Amino acid sequence: MSNIDLIEQMDLHLRAWQDSGVEWLPRAGGAMIIPENARAQPAAAVPLFAKAMVQAPPQLTVVSPYPFDPSLFAAGQIPLPAVRGDVGPPLLELPVLEDYQRERAMKDLAYKVSQCKKCPDLVRGRTQTVFGIGPLSPKLCIVGEAPGFNEDKQGEPFVGPAGELLTRMLLASGFKRDEVYICNILRCRPPENRPPLPEEAANCRSFLVQTLELVRPSHICLMGASATKYLLGRDEFIGQLRGQELWWRGIPVTATYHPSYLLRSPAKKHEAWADLQAMVIRMGQLLPEKNG
Ligand code: URA
Repeated sequence: MSNIDLIEQMDLHLRAWQDSGVEWLPRAGGAMIIPENARAQPAAAVPLFAKAMVQAPPQLTVVSPYPFDPSLFAAGQIPLPAVRGDVGPPLLELPVLEDYQRERAMKDLAYKVSQCKKCPDLVRGRTQTVFGIGPLSPKLCIVGEAPGFNEDKQGEPFVGPAGELLTRMLLASGFKRDEVYICNILRCRPPENRPPLPEEAANCRSFLVQTLELVRPSHICLMGASATKYLLGRDEFIGQLRGQELWWRGIPVTATYHPSYLLRSPAKKHEAWADLQAMVIRMGQLLPEKNG
């Protein structure tokens, strides 16, 4: 078997795991169950295969619940846990895939998203699913909340008025929009643009995590409280989270106000601008010169 065949075989195996819901694998084994008190000491993690979770002793907390079939929890031995944000190995420690493999995996993922029927309310109301857009390995990835009216119609995130403001905010921070990867917590528009429900975010979480694993951004900017709540598992208001040095699986994270909120509350724009300036400095980049 040639090396390419071998890579293809490995790729197929890994994707079969992914299809069955496994988000990540440690280097030496299967899915992991980590004792509640062991998050700061990964060595205490106990490698187990996903199916073994039903036999997990009660003192163990399943920290990566959503990639797995929830029916595993149905017998009631293990309660379905709340979202825990920063779970999984550092992104940059995942095996490096060739670009062609990443591009193919992204296309497969986008197809899987387009076929998703997990949230009946959202499926009923959507024109189409809205996947992310942008280059692989960008310096910056924006994570918003969910598609709105315009995004649902056009199939692209952040293309309405909030998207126009986002594009201007990016430019003012030294980024062209097409240099940045842009996605949302949800891939379907919620009815009346309401915030995502916890179960919807849970259903969509493995799509987001797989996207971030494939995209491998150097920095993540979370826009609004839904993004911080459902990616990081943090319940605080943005006003409390902004300015903090946040991380997701080894990637530095900035939290700031959502552009839609800034359109409604323009007095907060200067705070968002300060957040983006701090982000650019934390990224080791130069702020663009002011025009005029
Ligand atoms: N708001 C979001 O959070 N995402 C979009 O794509 C558009 C508006």
